[in-house]
Amino acid sequence: MCAVSLAGKRGDEAGDAGRSALVGRGVEQARLDALPASAREGRSGVVLVSGEAGVGKTALLEYAAGRAGAMRVLRARGVEAESGLAFAALDELLRPVLSCLDGLPARQAAALRSALALSESSDVDRFAIYVATLGLLAAAAEDAPLLVLVDDAHWLDGSSADALVFAGRRLEAEGIALVFAARVGDLEEFVAPGFEELHVGGLDRAAAARLLERDGARVIAPDVIDRLTAETAGNPLALIELGELLSSEQLAGEQPLGEPLAAGDAAQRAFLRRARALSVPGYHALVVATAAGDGELGPLLGALEALGVGAQPLADVEAAGLVTIADGRLTFAHPLVRSAVYTAAEPAERRRAHRALADAPGEQRAEIALTVARGATNREAGAALFLSPKTIEFHLGRVYRKLGVRSRTELAHVLRDVVAPDR
Ligand SMILES: Nc1ncnc2c1ncn2[C@@H]1O[C@H](COP(=O)(O)OP(=O)(O)OP(=O)(O)O)[C@@H](O)[C@H]1O
Ligand SMILES: [Mg+2]
Repeated sequence: MCAVSLAGKRGDEAGDAGRSALVGRGVEQARLDALPASAREGRSGVVLVSGEAGVGKTALLEYAAGRAGAMRVLRARGVEAESGLAFAALDELLRPVLSCLDGLPARQAAALRSALALSESSDVDRFAIYVATLGLLAAAAEDAPLLVLVDDAHWLDGSSADALVFAGRRLEAEGIALVFAARVGDLEEFVAPGFEELHVGGLDRAAAARLLERDGARVIAPDVIDRLTAETAGNPLALIELGELLSSEQLAGEQPLGEPLAAGDAAQRAFLRRARALSVPGYHALVVATAAGDGELGPLLGALEALGVGAQPLADVEAAGLVTIADGRLTFAHPLVRSAVYTAAEPAERRRAHRALADAPGEQRAEIALTVARGATNREAGAALFLSPKTIEFHLGRVYRKLGVRSRTELAHVLRDVVAPDR
């Protein structure tokens, strides 16, 4: 038995997200009820919730979290900007149960500590790390069954994905319910052979109608429901977006719906419609933001100045609900806003945005990469360069991806000739 820090909440403290009603997901909800029920009886299991963007995978994980009762809930999600940072997601997932490390065989505990950068040792014994991941989860499940939720698994860094798949394939009688959620058809893929897949498809017409009518709060013409259901293939995100975009006359069937709404990537198209309704400077600012991605505002503001757009149009973008700006950071309302707008932008406009963005942070990233390659931790590099460790981590993720490396050791190796003269 080991103490589990508060961050690993019990299910009954895990928020009320699961209580917000989902429409039309009886089958999926039943499966996600059964998995933890088995875990409570000491039988572990793994399910991969899969489906296209906006179909409701996160909503189902929230449902599971809300129903966890006395189970301990551990959560992590893949983050696109961190997909090059080895063990970033595993670190997020295991942090609340790290006190259980002391109960593991010394070699495993040491390997996991070094993977999560809790020790100075840099030798990476992947097998020991994977075994320790399984051991740590099992130890954490000793005093209460465990619900482990991993969202956006398609963006997991490869090392975390490998460790979690390894652990998932070996679960037996620990009392652990492990649920992954991942997009299908995405460029980045989460490969999990052998896991039961719970594929989430579009809502049927009746469920789409309930969603559009907000459970009876408004009435929508039957043929409008037919058309929206057909054109979104029942994708909840696209239904919600279109329901907000159309006028009340259109929803009542009194005015035509206009152009074909959304074939195929329904959710993307819905966001794109909203982006195109922006002012011209607002749209330009949004395109530059899509090239920058979620993160600190500094580089984006610099690029907008350089392009003569200025910062003001960002306020329109925020007012349109496409991004939020807080604490000096910009976050897209949904990852699809970013991919939809970026993909639809003219190539020349994308190139211009990247060039403007590359000017300033390029040098900063080089400095960060060199500092880290010389052996500094994120905290030390942050202190040396007057940046937060999070900012260091963010830029380092980009550097990793650009250089095709997965760890500090690999980075140091690639940069050895540049770093050497300083030694
Ligand atoms: N069955 C449902 N009933 C009501 N609302 C739903 C349902 N499914 C999803 N939604 C709503 O639709 C939106 C998109 O759902 P969600 O974020 O869960 O999609 P996702 O599959 O996780 O997408 P992504 O791949 O982009 O992460 C959310 O606002 C969510 O609350
Ligand atoms: Mg999601």
